[in-house]
Amino acid sequence: MTPPHRQNWFEGWRLFAVLTLTLAGLCVWIAGMRQFEVDGVRMVIRFTARTSLLFFCLAFSAAALARLWPNGWTRWTRRNRRYLGVTFAASHGIHAVAIACFAIMDSAAYAAATNAASYIFGGIGYAFIIAMAATSFDRSAATIGPRAFRILHLAGGYYLLFQFTVSFGKRIPDMPLYALFLLPLLAVMALRLIAMAARRTPHRVQAG
Ligand code: HEM
Repeated sequence: MTPPHRQNWFEGWRLFAVLTLTLAGLCVWIAGMRQFEVDGVRMVIRFTARTSLLFFCLAFSAAALARLWPNGWTRWTRRNRRYLGVTFAASHGIHAVAIACFAIMDSAAYAAATNAASYIFGGIGYAFIIAMAATSFDRSAATIGPRAFRILHLAGGYYLLFQFTVSFGKRIPDMPLYALFLLPLLAVMALRLIAMAARRTPHRVQAG
């Protein structure tokens, strides 16, 4: 059954297209504000890290929110969590392109901004993002099966939550306001735990 709301631009793959084109346009505009010099590229890296945080949090909390507070907005995020998740992957794709531009345009500053840990942990993060995005289509999801899909998307989600926490958290000593970026991550974690507890409680009552 295909509900009628799937026909508009704020649902499904059209939503993904609108969000990704908007993100790409904003990134070109931001880089253009600094004449496409390295400063502009670094602004794009930071901007996409933040847009990625937004779409990741929406996608990873959607089911919990819809369970705890079923209403029009939470049902919309739940219905579109796949497309919000793929928008997160696109946002991080732009993050990767901007990182490559940064490395080419100012290799000394790039070397100073990265280390072995950024490659190892960031690389694992990208491996999860690619695997999760690749299995976000009906056919590829069916190919790996529901159990592998669930394990991959759960493990990847928690790993990325950890990666965001470390990447924003390590900047707090220099910029204390970065602690604010940890709030949505904590909220997502708390919502998922509360929703999980709420799901288990009725079973216990029945079992007793
Ligand atoms: C090999 C993979 C990666 C590399 C080489 C990398 C590189 C970078 C660099 C160089 C910056 C700093 C830019 C600057 O100071 O101008 C940065 C920022 C950041 N990255 Fe990545 N990154 C990678 C993967 C990831 C992943 C997987 C995530 C999250 C899931 C992530 C989240 C962040 C965050 C949160 C920031 C801080 C943005 C800010 O200052 O507001 N990165 N990254």
